[in-house]
Amino acid sequence: MKKYKIGAIGGDGIGPEVLNEGKKVVEAVSKGFGIDWVDYPYSGAHYLKTGEILPDHAIEEMRKLDAIYLGAIGHPELKPGIIEQGLLLKLRFALDQYINLRPVKLYDNVPCPLANKGPKDVDFYVVRENTEDFYVGIGGTFREGFEEESAYQIGIATRKGCRRAIKYAFELAKRKKRNRVTMCDKANVLTHVYGLWRRVFAEVAKDYPNVETEYSFVDAITQWFVRKPEWYQVIVVPNMFGDIITDLAAAIQGGMGLAPGGNINPEGVSMFEPIHGSAPKYTGMNVINPIACILAGSMMLEEIGEQKAADAVENAVAQILKEGKVLPKDLGGKAKTMEVGDVVAKRAAQLLSQ
Ligand code: IPM
Ligand code: MN
Repeated sequence: MKKYKIGAIGGDGIGPEVLNEGKKVVEAVSKGFGIDWVDYPYSGAHYLKTGEILPDHAIEEMRKLDAIYLGAIGHPELKPGIIEQGLLLKLRFALDQYINLRPVKLYDNVPCPLANKGPKDVDFYVVRENTEDFYVGIGGTFREGFEEESAYQIGIATRKGCRRAIKYAFELAKRKKRNRVTMCDKANVLTHVYGLWRRVFAEVAKDYPNVETEYSFVDAITQWFVRKPEWYQVIVVPNMFGDIITDLAAAIQGGMGLAPGGNINPEGVSMFEPIHGSAPKYTGMNVINPIACILAGSMMLEEIGEQKAADAVENAVAQILKEGKVLPKDLGGKAKTMEVGDVVAKRAAQLLSQ
């Protein structure tokens, strides 16, 4: 029997709680294959206790995994940036997870904040480049603490980096039977970095004559997400703008509790996580919606090649949401985190055995 070795990083706050539900569901659909979980303690809390963020030996070990499943990181007692850079971004960069794939899908019966929009209107993919742009960490601070203090930070785009993200977006469009790819940028102001993106986009697009293409500025796209989400099919976007527009996109798909993401290296080890944070004030209360993390588990199953199991999980989530009997607090219900996990796990297993 095929066995997958999957790293599990619960992280901080509600991260371990949602990850437990995710693992439960993944296990429930593990038929014909098995999972060996490798649990890792890394988190903001672990750093505060031990001084260790993410040791090199752990990264080396993770290179041999089939995937990584992550809850959430972020600790209120830590200065912003330490754990984000030392753990999450470090892994994305070290494992060269150059795609951050964020499906944006409004499921039946999930309240949408947009007037007169329903599931058929909100169903697209954001392909966020994940290893370049303003996330590279190049910059400096000069005369810190003085009135003359100055700081700079720069974004990088490489031909290889944009090409592989853009190519992934077109291939995804083909695979998911979508016929339009939108390039989202700010090429009217940041002419150098996003000028390069546009040149590469035009080059890659030539290989996909049946796919419609367009450009949209990032400021404009935010209002179009609200006014006309049904227009979008696949969007390819540089790292930082991708971070911003996917929080907005999460809101129109019913909230952060429903939005999964995958940090993907198609040739290497990918990492799946809900896109929400660690929500420290809800820690241990068993009230957080685990569906984003569960859907991230479905994406993980798809990426490792277990499409049937992946579909069973997604369909189970869709059914439970549609029935509306077991809903977590953020969706207006009373179900606890663990109950949602239980009911999705049970349904997914049933769907798989049908
Ligand atoms: C995300 C998060 C991260 C990002 C943070 C925690 C570094 O906001 O995954 O969207 O900016 O990529
Ligand atoms: Mn974000």
